[in-house]
Amino acid sequence: MRKNTGPIILTLITLIFTGAFIYFFFVAPAMQIGPEQPIPFSHNVHSGVKQIQCQYCHPYVAYSNFPGLPPVAKCLHCHNYIIAKHPWIQVEHRYFNTQTSTPWVKVNYVAEHVLFNHQRHINGKIACRECHGPVENLHRLPSKNWRMGECIECHRAKKANLDCWLACHS
Ligand code: HEC
Ligand code: HEC
Ligand code: HEC
Ligand code: HEC
Repeated sequence: MRKNTGPIILTLITLIFTGAFIYFFFVAPAMQIGPEQPIPFSHNVHSGVKQIQCQYCHPYVAYSNFPGLPPVAKCLHCHNYIIAKHPWIQVEHRYFNTQTSTPWVKVNYVAEHVLFNHQRHINGKIACRECHGPVENLHRLPSKNWRMGECIECHRAKKANLDCWLACHS
């Protein structure tokens, strides 16, 4: 062993730890946390802690191309009684009274020429979390740009249609 390997190894270890530190505390969170929403709605509070079913709020997911985001009226079904004085619930009232729909920021994107619909997938008994991850553990949903590779990977694994130019592209 040469004399100066000690300091070199030490420097390397320091570099690795600095890199890991930057990654875990800055890069990874930035990738995981999605856009700020007009109301900090938490899936963790509603679906994790309070166990409200996904389809209570996204009722059309199995029937239509548009799963639907809940209208304010639906939030107020509960929030007229639950934490009714909470400042964010006051914001809901403002949307409701002015008949404005909550300007939720979309987080899932597929390329425009791709035909995706939930029906086939839900009827094929694929759980929400297989595609959306553990939404019920999250306070804020991350942005996700769907790459074709992800569609193909699962289609291959589950032996679904791979003839994508016919099935998925318009
Ligand atoms: C089925 C009933 C129900 C519906 C529907 C519902 N909520 Fe809630 N919400 C709750 C409960 C229960 C809590 C927890 C209250 C507590 O902390 O005591 C909660 C908490 C909250 C909080 C408090 C913040 C926090 O993270 O602790 C906000 C903000 C909120 N809801 C917004 C909404 C919005 C926006 C909608 C509509 C998209 C909605 N809720 C729909 C039951 C509901
Ligand atoms: C109390 C109502 C409520 C429940 C229950 C609920 N959601 Fe949501 N969901 C919302 C609201 C409001 C938004 C829009 C704000 C946001 O993105 O956080 C949303 C957004 C989403 C999005 C992102 C939509 C986009 O922009 O691409 C997905 C995916 C989603 N929900 C899946 C689920 C799943 C899976 C469950 C069950 C584990 C669930 N939701 C339960 C109200 C609800
Ligand atoms: C096979 C994968 C897959 C499964 C399973 C799946 N989703 Fe999605 N979901 C997607 C993709 C891809 C998008 C983006 C579609 C788009 O932008 O047109 C999306 C978008 C959404 C949106 C936003 C729609 C909008 O109007 O912007 C909601 C809400 C949602 N999913 C809820 C659910 C719920 C609830 C379940 C379970 C009942 C579920 N999804 C199951 C892949 C899936
Ligand atoms: C987690 C697995 C999974 C993911 C991710 C997934 N799919 Fe699928 N997809 C399936 C399965 C399984 C079926 C067959 C369902 C059935 O039994 O009809 C299917 C069916 C389809 C069909 C109907 C095919 C036909 O036979 O006509 C289309 C179109 C489709 N998917 C498009 C997409 C697109 C586009 C994406 C990516 C945005 C995607 N899928 C992501 C599992 C997945």
